[in-house]
Amino acid sequence: MSTSSVLDTIESDSPRHLDELVQWLKIPSVSSDSRHVADVGRAADWLSEKFKRAGLSVQTIATDGHPMVFAQTPAVDGAPIVLVYGHYDVQPPEPLDQWITGPFEPTVRNGNLYARGATDDKGQVLTHIHSVCDWVASGTPLPFQIKLLIEGEEEVGSENLERMLPQLKEQLACDCVVISDSSQYADGQPAITYGLRGIATYEIKVDGPSQDLHSGSFGGAVMNPAIALCHLLSSFVDDQGKIQIPGYYNDVQSLSEEERKQWRQLPSDDGQFAKAIGVDALFGESGYTTDERRWARPTFDINGLTSGHQGEGVKTIIPATASAKFSFRLVPDQDPQKITEGLRAHVERHTPPGVKVALEPDHGAPGMLANTASPFMQAARDAIESAFGVSPVLIREGGSIPIVTRFQEVLQCDCLLMGWGLSDDNLHSPNEKFRVADFHRGIRASALLWQNIGQLI
Ligand code: BES
Ligand code: MN
Ligand code: MN
Repeated sequence: MSTSSVLDTIESDSPRHLDELVQWLKIPSVSSDSRHVADVGRAADWLSEKFKRAGLSVQTIATDGHPMVFAQTPAVDGAPIVLVYGHYDVQPPEPLDQWITGPFEPTVRNGNLYARGATDDKGQVLTHIHSVCDWVASGTPLPFQIKLLIEGEEEVGSENLERMLPQLKEQLACDCVVISDSSQYADGQPAITYGLRGIATYEIKVDGPSQDLHSGSFGGAVMNPAIALCHLLSSFVDDQGKIQIPGYYNDVQSLSEEERKQWRQLPSDDGQFAKAIGVDALFGESGYTTDERRWARPTFDINGLTSGHQGEGVKTIIPATASAKFSFRLVPDQDPQKITEGLRAHVERHTPPGVKVALEPDHGAPGMLANTASPFMQAARDAIESAFGVSPVLIREGGSIPIVTRFQEVLQCDCLLMGWGLSDDNLHSPNEKFRVADFHRGIRASALLWQNIGQLI
């Protein structure tokens, strides 16, 4: 059987492809929420059942947290090995009242499938799973070996996978990792992503008096923990978006003129970008374009902020505590550990008397750059062009996939990121969606990629 008949199979299987995605999305595999441990396990089981039905050899790999599902096609002597990586865990769905239809009741409206995980990442990773399963089920031998590793802890930092990677090195050995967990550049403009930012996340707690105090009786005589927290957080960054932690920019790889020139040719539109997210002006580090700020400059963001009275009406208190969750996006070659050290010293220097500050690092991952000269990239370009009818542009993205740099280091492999999503897919946010047509195009592009890689041999 030829690739064209595999493509025919894919075409005729397309209703089932979507039905299966809907089934998988109904399982609320929220990795960060201990109430969903069993659901995360069910989502893994769903996937391993799917692999088994298609006749792939499959294994569930237990971790100290959520399991990983590993499957593979037969080894082919002298041919490259490709590893598909993705994640079946999802972000929490809150705030629930902002969803038009339930986050775990997948619904198609206007050609989009709405559900938590639709684009991040069940829908995207399933494109490769479907193409491989259809290929195997069709009885056509694949010209090279494909391994698939789908994990359940990407949204919580992939720490278990990172720790286990050295011992999984042989099992995961490959020439190229293929990942679809990002976006196209714009509607009608597919992309190949050759860079991602890294990340370092923290929680900070400021403790003051042993309990809340009347702000009339005590105000002015003690340090208010919420004010101390505001001062601390604002000491991290100036009003131009430049981070003020000593040494923070030391290892930042600067952008080449070549790259900047290439990015300026992308069809970007700041006005439309602002409008799409509902703001009347953009903001960022001066001297950089929006794409440069998003893809190649490090940033500081507060992700959550808590202190004092949040209920109805006025309550005049000095809260006993204040806390925040915050993160830095990092770029190559910033090291999350070094960032933590610099941050710790800065926080100690800026802690006022009368409060205690505890800084807790959560997870960190370095930024990533892929080899754009890789033959796998050329194979991907052609596959995307055939499936989407448009040749992809080369971009970087600002999000992070914590394990990719470790794959490059430990497995010594190339990295191919092909995002099928769109920038308005609402990932991590209410009404997450994935365009149904892009799901089907992604499956085709994936099958064509296997065909093109087969021709590299
Ligand atoms: N799929 C995203 C990463 C992503 C987002 C890539 C946008 C490209 C564009 C991934 O699931 C994700 O959300 N990663 C987290 C990692 C964190 C939880 C350690 C992120 O970037 O915040
Ligand atoms: Mn993702
Ligand atoms: Mn995500």
